[in-house]
Amino acid sequence: TKHLLGIKDLNERDIQLIFETADTFKDVLNRPIKKVPSLRDVTIANVFFENSTRTRLSFELAQKRLSADTINFAASSSSVSKGETLIDTVNNILAMKVDMIVIRHPYPGAGIFLSRKVNAQIVNAGDGAHEHPTQALLDAFSIREKYGDVAGKKIAIIGDILHSRVALSNILCLQKLGAEVMVCGPTTLIPKYIGSLGVKVEFDLLKALNWCDVANMLRIQLERQDIKYFPSLREYTMMYGLNKQILDSLDKEILIMHPGPINRGVEITSDVADSKQSIILDQVENGVAIRMAVLYLLAGQKP
Ligand code: CP
Repeated sequence: TKHLLGIKDLNERDIQLIFETADTFKDVLNRPIKKVPSLRDVTIANVFFENSTRTRLSFELAQKRLSADTINFAASSSSVSKGETLIDTVNNILAMKVDMIVIRHPYPGAGIFLSRKVNAQIVNAGDGAHEHPTQALLDAFSIREKYGDVAGKKIAIIGDILHSRVALSNILCLQKLGAEVMVCGPTTLIPKYIGSLGVKVEFDLLKALNWCDVANMLRIQLERQDIKYFPSLREYTMMYGLNKQILDSLDKEILIMHPGPINRGVEITSDVADSKQSIILDQVENGVAIRMAVLYLLAGQKP
């Protein structure tokens, strides 16, 4: 495939190939010399129309570890503020002999749109509330690393499902790998179409936690909410915030995940986020190996 636009375009074999390639790169990243020459003649632009810490730095580092040439574009400091369109912006970047575009954009489908309009490989680094494929891949890879396999595992995705691209990509990825998926949150933050995805829906946090092997805690995405949602943040924390007392009341030890950025004290307390059950920073570490694997395979390199 030429692009990575969403998990919906991948099958289980594609995902396993990305994981096996990422295994090799994770070994490389643990060596004293972390750089390989694989993408020496490839130039990649990271084009970010929305803020990012993890995804942008992780892609940039993955590109550097692969010896690609890399340039970074932040919309806020660009000529977008002078009225330049997305297509003109990207075509100008491509005129500088760039091969691949990694794009984050607030509009769902921005990467798909771009893939039809410009002559370059496109990697979706998050498009509005639609998909965030590399996040889902690194999340599933991190579960596989801890449990040996994703198949048969029970994963609860808890929080603002409605505004989350991480939720949709995770649901698709985990299901393709044979996991059982549940979403949990207030009715106002669970989309109506969720039933058609074949996931369980639970409105009670404790029941979701008692069911799952892994709890993936999501942030309330206030930046995507144009009306005031019930519940308020304070009410949300009272009903859905994960704290140590709740975690310790379970009769089993579950893994705690979070894609970041964390709002400490809202969806998760510090004593849970920083506990030994949390693999939040393992997720971030694995993100570099996963993105190396994605870029390497898209560039047509042999597994
Ligand atoms: N998880 C994630 O996408 O984080 P950033 O928004 O910081 O990239």
